[in-house]
Amino acid sequence: MSTARTLDAPRPDFGPAEVERLREDFPILTHPVHGKRLVYLDNAATTQKPRPVLAALERYYRHDNSNVHRGVHFLGERATQAYEGARERVRHLLNAPAAREIVFTRGTTESINLVASSFGRSRVAQDDEILLTQMEHHSNIVPWQLLAERRGARIRVVPVDDRGELDLADFERMVGPRTRIVAVSHVSNVLGTVNPVREICAIARRQGVPVLVDGAQAPPRMPVDVQALGCDFYTFSGHKLYGPMGIGVLWGRSELLGELPPYQGGGQMIESVSFEKTTYAAIPARFEAGTPNVAGAVGLAAAIDYLEAVGLDRIDRHERALAAHAAEALSELPEVRLIGTARERTSVVSFVVEGVHAHDVGTVLDHEGIATRAGHHCAQPLMERFGVPATTRASFGLYNGEEDVHALVRGLHRVREVFG
Ligand code: ALA
Repeated sequence: MSTARTLDAPRPDFGPAEVERLREDFPILTHPVHGKRLVYLDNAATTQKPRPVLAALERYYRHDNSNVHRGVHFLGERATQAYEGARERVRHLLNAPAAREIVFTRGTTESINLVASSFGRSRVAQDDEILLTQMEHHSNIVPWQLLAERRGARIRVVPVDDRGELDLADFERMVGPRTRIVAVSHVSNVLGTVNPVREICAIARRQGVPVLVDGAQAPPRMPVDVQALGCDFYTFSGHKLYGPMGIGVLWGRSELLGELPPYQGGGQMIESVSFEKTTYAAIPARFEAGTPNVAGAVGLAAAIDYLEAVGLDRIDRHERALAAHAAEALSELPEVRLIGTARERTSVVSFVVEGVHAHDVGTVLDHEGIATRAGHHCAQPLMERFGVPATTRASFGLYNGEEDVHALVRGLHRVREVFG
């Protein structure tokens, strides 16, 4: 069985020598797993951290650590500069118009909860509608359900077709006079589908409906320009972008974000407090109650520097080519069924091996040194849509190469030997 790319398939941007060089930037990848070279294909869950990110975290705690926006002392100044510098770095990554539109959160999940809570409280009423899609992660479903329960609103769901694509005509039909917000993933964490977010935003804008984009899977692997997309809110997590865990971003258009009520109360988010009446700070402070994850923001800025030095355009081409190659190689295995074959896709390949549970597939692959994820991937409605309880998912990062696709295919031969 050949695992070579067909001649007309796109070639990954990073050849074997460059992949090796990139791998060397990530110390964890040099440790063998079960005596084998680690083939890390769980990048949609979290990515590994390059040396510059590890160094930035250590440097911050060794030289700069202090609370921010508080101490009128040397370290307080340094920490504040580092934190606000990171905000500017994120602004630049997303091409957001202003740094004050960048709110640091714990991650995508908290960012979406913030909007569902704050936007929901002020803009969603009884019988209003919230429009989602069938391919959303639970993080972009459950916060809206909680809101809908509180307000007596309704969730409506745009279907996914057999390829794992959305139909823009369905969107157009379903955005109606009661729609208060559309929430859609940029890239599906299960299917790798790259959604036509720009077109979705244009449809919604014609009806005056704001759009939140769950970007958890996109900025780590493609250039993102929130102004070009035309969205109103954009969210992502640091840990999927080669940065630290526990830091994430909400970008919101200032005309909208600036009008929303606070999410959590506490220090830093106020203008003045009295027992009679408290008034709130301007954005972004209004949404950053309590001591923030300053080191996380600093580490995230270092991750963005790293990614941009490698080149997001190149990473984009590389991961799309790897996903296409993997899909092609897996589709030659008779016992393997791909879940999701969208024309616009990147990085992620989900599949079932007939007759073998996804967890067993994942366990055999792990013994071969191959890290994948098995399960419902926090997208149970999508699993139901495809009639499977779980899939095995391989997801690529910038340090994966064609050799890793070959390893995955060899691992699946091993699954066949074990389960015959
Ligand atoms: N959302 C992450 C994933 O898809 C955790 O694995």
